[in-house]
Amino acid sequence: MVRGADGAGGPPATPYRLEERPPTPDEYRALRAAVGWGAQDEEAVRAALTGALYSVCATLDGAVVGCGRVVGDGGLYYYVQDIVVTPRHQGRGVGRLIMDAVMRYFRAHARRGAFIGLMAADGKAGFYERYGFAARPSPGFGPGMQLRPS
Ligand SMILES: CC(C)(COP(=O)(O)OP(=O)(O)OC[C@H]1O[C@@H](n2cnc3c(N)ncnc32)[C@H](O)[C@@H]1OP(=O)(O)O)[C@@H](O)C(=O)NCCC(=O)NCCS
Repeated sequence: MVRGADGAGGPPATPYRLEERPPTPDEYRALRAAVGWGAQDEEAVRAALTGALYSVCATLDGAVVGCGRVVGDGGLYYYVQDIVVTPRHQGRGVGRLIMDAVMRYFRAHARRGAFIGLMAADGKAGFYERYGFAARPSPGFGPGMQLRPS
């Protein structure tokens, strides 16, 4: 599915387009590299990209300039992952376009009471707060945890 920013078939307010599909492994690697994120195991990348619940790419003239993914069990737990916009396209509303699509996915698919979480990169919590995400720890919730890399 491809559409402009308004999502309603009217004239697009931005040259960027949304494609509701996963990035290819090459597109994904290029997006990560553009924001300084390291290389990953190729098999793991392929499995990850096909295993997401929802994926969206932002394109300009057919080239992928950003992406966003939702992973989880599709019932109780959902995590926002890999919200990335290449640096030369940042600050132009592409991240908002991607997050708006992700939030539409949650409104359509996540049932009441489902957990929707994310791990914000340094300095990016404010971007997600705009969509209703709140930082932990907060009253009643301890900090998140992750397994140490071996
Ligand atoms: C975070 C990121 C996706 C934002 O994308 P972007 O295309 O630059 O964001 P947009 O231009 O759509 O910004 C949308 C709004 O969010 C705001 N915003 C953007 N980054 C922000 C930040 N780090 N903190 C608070 N607000 C932020 C913008 O000011 C803008 O506000 P406005 O609508 O009032 O003008 C992008 O900076 C990025 O890819 N960074 C590197 C990868 C990364 O760290 N991703 C997050 C992983 S958790």
